[in-house]
Amino acid sequence: MRKILIVQGPNLNLLGNRERQYYGSASLDEVHAELRERGGQEGLEVVAFQSNHEGDIVDTIQGAPGNGFEAIIINPAAYTHTSVAIRDALTAVGLPYFEVHISNIQSREDFRRRSLVSEGASGIVSGFGPFGYTLALLGAAQILDKIHPTGGEDC
Ligand code: DQA
Repeated sequence: MRKILIVQGPNLNLLGNRERQYYGSASLDEVHAELRERGGQEGLEVVAFQSNHEGDIVDTIQGAPGNGFEAIIINPAAYTHTSVAIRDALTAVGLPYFEVHISNIQSREDFRRRSLVSEGASGIVSGFGPFGYTLALLGAAQILDKIHPTGGEDC
């Protein structure tokens, strides 16, 4: 079973209560439960992590290859716009990663339009609400199938 790591940045623990016009009404636990279920249907093991602390996010990214993850889906939240450390960690581990934003970061304040992690991302999803994580998961599975086919037909 492929292992996919979901990394959630600061304030995403408040999903469901926080600025619902941007982030919707589902809680982070509900979003993760949905991803685990959908992932299971696709033969993916989904493990989710959230932190409000930059260094903890860096440590988790660094540990991903050693813990058997094949890809990272990350919403760095506010660190998207500020964190060279998270960008460098993502580049350093060399796993394919997918950037997710619940809101459309291009349609909000100017400072949200710039992402430090987009350049190295294998895919970006923004503005689909929490469903964006599911889109990223399905997209990641398809890209991983191309990189490391598991089925006999493609080998
Ligand atoms: C966000 C957008 C960021 O600008 C913001 O700081 C967040 C969430 C999103 O998912 O839309 O916390 O990453």
